[in-house]
Amino acid sequence: MQTRRTTPTAPRARLVGRAALGLTLALTTAGVAGCTAQEPVTTPASAEQVEVFTWWASGSEKLAFDSLVEVFVEQNPGTVFVDGGIAGGAGSTAKTLLASRLADGDPPDTFQVHGGAELADYVADGRLRDLDDLVVDLGLDRTLPASVRDMVSVDGTVYAIPSNVHRANVLWANPDVLAAAGLEATASFATLDDWFVALDAVRATGRTPLALGSTWTQVHLLEQVLLAHLGPQGYAGLWDGTTDVAGAEVTAALADFERLLGYTNADRDSMDWQDATQDVIDGDAAFVVMGDWALEAFEEAGDTAPTEVLWATAPGTDGVFDVVVDAFALPAGAPNPDAATRWLRAVASADGQTAFSNAKGAIPARSDLGTAQLGTYQRAATTAFRADTVVPSLTHGAAVSTGALDAVTAAVGRFTSGATTTTTLQAELALALR
Ligand code: GAL
Repeated sequence: MQTRRTTPTAPRARLVGRAALGLTLALTTAGVAGCTAQEPVTTPASAEQVEVFTWWASGSEKLAFDSLVEVFVEQNPGTVFVDGGIAGGAGSTAKTLLASRLADGDPPDTFQVHGGAELADYVADGRLRDLDDLVVDLGLDRTLPASVRDMVSVDGTVYAIPSNVHRANVLWANPDVLAAAGLEATASFATLDDWFVALDAVRATGRTPLALGSTWTQVHLLEQVLLAHLGPQGYAGLWDGTTDVAGAEVTAALADFERLLGYTNADRDSMDWQDATQDVIDGDAAFVVMGDWALEAFEEAGDTAPTEVLWATAPGTDGVFDVVVDAFALPAGAPNPDAATRWLRAVASADGQTAFSNAKGAIPARSDLGTAQLGTYQRAATTAFRADTVVPSLTHGAAVSTGALDAVTAAVGRFTSGATTTTTLQAELALALR
């Protein structure tokens, strides 16, 4: 599909009054790039503060997060917002730091968490307060779709308020690079084999066919290859033991994963998802496989981006929605639980859900908001989320525990750095997912 870079039917909230927001944040928060949250610069003696811990701390993600903060500040002018953002895609740095803060009894007031197995880990460790009363008070028991509600619940109790729903299985492409390779302007490939033909054509032009970043983005790519090979049922079976990780379908998927690596940039281990996506925006690479948060990287690039943003479901995954749910939790021992609850209310509010989703390339978690306020991409994603087969993302905390994901990530890192073979990788994946 093609999406024009601007969506005039859906003005995005963060573009309105961004300067005003910047001023508010400058007055109420300290900059925190790459380090732990700091004290507010100016805190009125009686004002309560809320430290919100996320990894939406750079580039288009920070801008999107600002749009949610703007809603919070409007709704809670008396609360001082403290940005606990730690950069690093998919929480690659933030989650480790958060774990040590929780272990040290130093929780933020609220933190970003993925719906699914990742959330369940925190609950099992006794880290979170239950949010059932708040959910009823906010009417979320009626307005969250069952699939989303399940992902933020453990044993029927809700432990996080979802801000948005992302789709992980998306392929993005630069039409100019495709044209230079004699290819039609499309990111839509029914099979991996169809895609390999296009990748070969781009390689012949001397440009990078497939942009890739560091290890978590490599796991993200592998996830899509597994989904293409196994289909939604087989893929989901990897996480509940009904699909044999040591079986022939996974072997075939790993062979294609290895083949795909041969089309990627050599400097991938030094790049996060923004860098890989930027290579496509700049025309240095043809394709990148990335969740739909990448839409905003294209949008933010302005005149330097291609005129059309080409996107489609990742090759071989049409009809499947590989879901990522972002949510916020209330840790036990949060210093300011009342302020944290006000943050959760802003996250759940219609304004919060709409503003953030439009700025983030996501769709609202609530199903009662309609689509009139959403951008073109978001309307298409909403339709897909309702119609497609929904499967949980491995890379983004939905499918397996953090321990298992860490083991998968380490195994993939060893393989992509050349230390192991696909045979070893498959054995290590089987062990990690046991
Ligand atoms: C995911 C998260 C998304 C986006 C992405 C890249 O894990 O759910 O909202 O932030 O990482 O950082």
